[in-house]
Amino acid sequence: MDVEDKKKMAALAALDHIQDHMIIGLGTGTTVQYMLEGLAQRIQQEHLNIIGVSTSDRTTKAANALNIPMKDLDDVGHIDLTIDGAGEIDKHFQGIKDGGAAHEYEKMVAISSDKNFWIVDDSKLVDTLGHNIPLPVEVVPYGSTKVFRRLANEGLNPSFRMVDKDHFYFTHEHNYVIDLHLQQINHPHHLALWLAHQVGILEHGLFLDIVDEVFVGTDQGVKNLV
Ligand code: 5RP
Repeated sequence: MDVEDKKKMAALAALDHIQDHMIIGLGTGTTVQYMLEGLAQRIQQEHLNIIGVSTSDRTTKAANALNIPMKDLDDVGHIDLTIDGAGEIDKHFQGIKDGGAAHEYEKMVAISSDKNFWIVDDSKLVDTLGHNIPLPVEVVPYGSTKVFRRLANEGLNPSFRMVDKDHFYFTHEHNYVIDLHLQQINHPHHLALWLAHQVGILEHGLFLDIVDEVFVGTDQGVKNLV
């Protein structure tokens, strides 16, 4: 089975948990796109009263195009359930979200949610975080070379995320992303705490102790990890 089939399968399985009158956090990414399409179909066919809360401009555009009713995070009291993708997930259900432009908003929506589900294909499961993808940190442009040097001195192997050799990649909030190429993150909580204390770093892509259930698309069907 190809990876897109696995993503779609995971997305549709999570969708079964959405009930009428729920406020749903809508994550970002290609797997989430399948979920949005399935959600739009359910809203239309079952006449569901659902409100979506977006985590990115990309998701807002997609949700609007699919006529999913939306509200801003600040305009809802709480979120019942957020469904999002992930870049990597370890066996303790800790994850890296690597979109860069979206992880700050994704984390704000996630921590405002009663429940969080992640939808992934099985290539996202790893023994140790950092194995396949870098860890993004969002930094304010002012003084960012100083932050970069601090990260390098700490042995965190940073690189600025670039669109091309002359242009920095910008987040929604017009900040830079520094990717940390770590190969393995043996102590994610320790690293998360250290990053959280660094002046100039706004948010990092470690999502720890956030997810409640993971839906994994595999050759054998969807595995629901709780
Ligand atoms: C965006 C993310 C994505 O959810 C993550 O990268 C998974 O994306 P995809 O479903 O396209 O593989 O973290 O910030």
